[in-house]
Amino acid sequence: MESPFDVLHIEPSADDETIEQAYRRRVMDAHPDQGGSVSEFRRVRTAYERIVAGYEPTADASEASSVDEETRTRAQTQVTYLNYDVLTDYGWSVEDDALFEKAATAGLPGTDYGEFVVKPGESLLEAAENRGFAWPFACRGGACVNCAIVLHAGELSMPANNVLPAEMMERNIRLSCNGMPITDELQVVYNVKHMPELEELLLPPKPFEATYAGD
Ligand code: FES
Repeated sequence: MESPFDVLHIEPSADDETIEQAYRRRVMDAHPDQGGSVSEFRRVRTAYERIVAGYEPTADASEASSVDEETRTRAQTQVTYLNYDVLTDYGWSVEDDALFEKAATAGLPGTDYGEFVVKPGESLLEAAENRGFAWPFACRGGACVNCAIVLHAGELSMPANNVLPAEMMERNIRLSCNGMPITDELQVVYNVKHMPELEELLLPPKPFEATYAGD
């Protein structure tokens, strides 16, 4: 069976810094938007998680094999979401590492905080809509930021992104309309189009208003 150290191209004796650097390098190369693939991206993430969890090279091979298989075949993604509007009300920062812990104990209504599942083939926005949520959008084609979200955990692949510069990608801003989850879990702050730095990239949200005109 495959060693997670082999996946990251490092020796089992590698120290924490070497592991971290190797992971960052490999996960960038494996990202579907950088020429990799979803399966390779998941393979690298799983390898890193196994090492961080204390993987021993002598661990039972059959058990590890079944874990690998389960990881490969899991296709649904569990999403925990939080409405950006809530942050202003509570004085929270979108960059707060404890944001989702705070939200979980704040007694927020289901429109502002909760969970849903993204099924295979659904974009994040489609999944939200199919589960009954009215998340904002406009072009649905990667040309505005009306559907933008901030990732707190997990990753999306975006086949179309004609609007987000590298600096915003580094701040974990993504598009939900064509963002396809490539991790088993996501934590996302939606409705971030109201962030001041995104406002000039917005389009008038006419399609959204037409969709929800009667609500
Ligand atoms: Fe315009 Fe998603 S709605 S990029």
